[in-house]
Amino acid sequence: MKNKIVLGVTGGIAAYKAADIARRIMELGCAVQVVMTKNAEAFIGPLTFEALTGNKVLRAGLPAPGEDSMPHITLQREACIVLVAPATANIIGKFANGIADDSLSTFLLACNAQVIMAPAMNTMMYENKAVQKNIATLKERGVIIVGPAVGMLACGDEGAGKLSPVEDIVTAVEEALKIKRDFANLNVIVTAGGTREPVDAVRFIGNSSSGKMGFSVAEALKRRGAKVTLIAGATEVKPPDDIKIVNVKTAEEMRLETMSCFDNADILIMAAAVGDYRVMEAENRKVKKSGQWNITLVENPDILMEVSKRKRGQIVIGFAAETENTLENGKEKLLKKNMDMIVINDVSRKDTGFASDYNEITILTRAGELTRHGKALKSELAEIILDNAVKLLKNGKNEKDKKRA
Ligand code: C5P
Repeated sequence: MKNKIVLGVTGGIAAYKAADIARRIMELGCAVQVVMTKNAEAFIGPLTFEALTGNKVLRAGLPAPGEDSMPHITLQREACIVLVAPATANIIGKFANGIADDSLSTFLLACNAQVIMAPAMNTMMYENKAVQKNIATLKERGVIIVGPAVGMLACGDEGAGKLSPVEDIVTAVEEALKIKRDFANLNVIVTAGGTREPVDAVRFIGNSSSGKMGFSVAEALKRRGAKVTLIAGATEVKPPDDIKIVNVKTAEEMRLETMSCFDNADILIMAAAVGDYRVMEAENRKVKKSGQWNITLVENPDILMEVSKRKRGQIVIGFAAETENTLENGKEKLLKKNMDMIVINDVSRKDTGFASDYNEITILTRAGELTRHGKALKSELAEIILDNAVKLLKNGKNEKDKKRA
């Protein structure tokens, strides 16, 4: 069966370009179903789209007697991507704020598929804080925003707000078709980076974690449809855009934030390098230099150990950074901390691991499955980690189904 792309057309001058977009998407081998707003019909007739796509256009009003009474639900089951092009400030605002007052806005709320929007409007409108906020909200929820382009607008103004070139919009659809959406609607907590334990007002005990692995996992999850909460300690790299981030410093802060989200999570991925020790009594002032300084360290609580006692069907994935006996030590941690899967890496190597863009990992599951993955970019390994996590999700679901039967 062909992939079905729902093409939402809203009321802007660029609406006529949607006909070309529909044709080009069909050339990718997809079926196109057009949903139009009432205002769009002032710019281009539904008949054009029906002739091009071979499918009856879903129009703004309520269905007539005898027609499918819930077309937004039927369509939601069939759609694999929703593209809104052109997207006016109005539809962007409605979708960002949960308003459903016609076929397209109702369908958008009911739909689980990847949404792509190509905004087109006057520059002043585009730059309006309300519109910018709505676009930021949508991006944070995983909507892909294409453009707008900068140029001469239909109203005679010059600036940002022009519908992106048709090629760019079609490329975005093509790219989105490649993305797996196997984490759609799952709540996932990812921890990343290293914790810092204060010694005095200016000094701390930290570690070499860069945050790159955790950030790569969070980005991959977001792409694959998850609702991600990223709990980040100290990191060397810029955190990913459009992901909800909770910044923490100490292991205790990370513990509190993780535990407060855990009950509502489906998956926890603990990629953070949590400090094992903290200073028993950190000084509030800067300690003056005066000879030897003895500091007593006490053990931090282990977040995964605490999580293991609160588990209610969540998938828990931990990491192990080891310098020797990597597999044995990793296996021991997996069992001790009641994880479902552990990602083990050898941090004694200079070319992979901490701070590097590369890693080399061994994945071990509770069921005893072991897979080794040679040196690869952390972004590639993040996808592999998620491919393995998905198998655990499916197994968990199958087990639940079996118990129910
Ligand atoms: O025992 P080790 O620190 O090597 O275990 C590593 C795993 O445990 C990582 O997933 C790390 O995020 C987690 N961890 C934790 N709480 C700690 C220390 C580590 O959850 N206090």
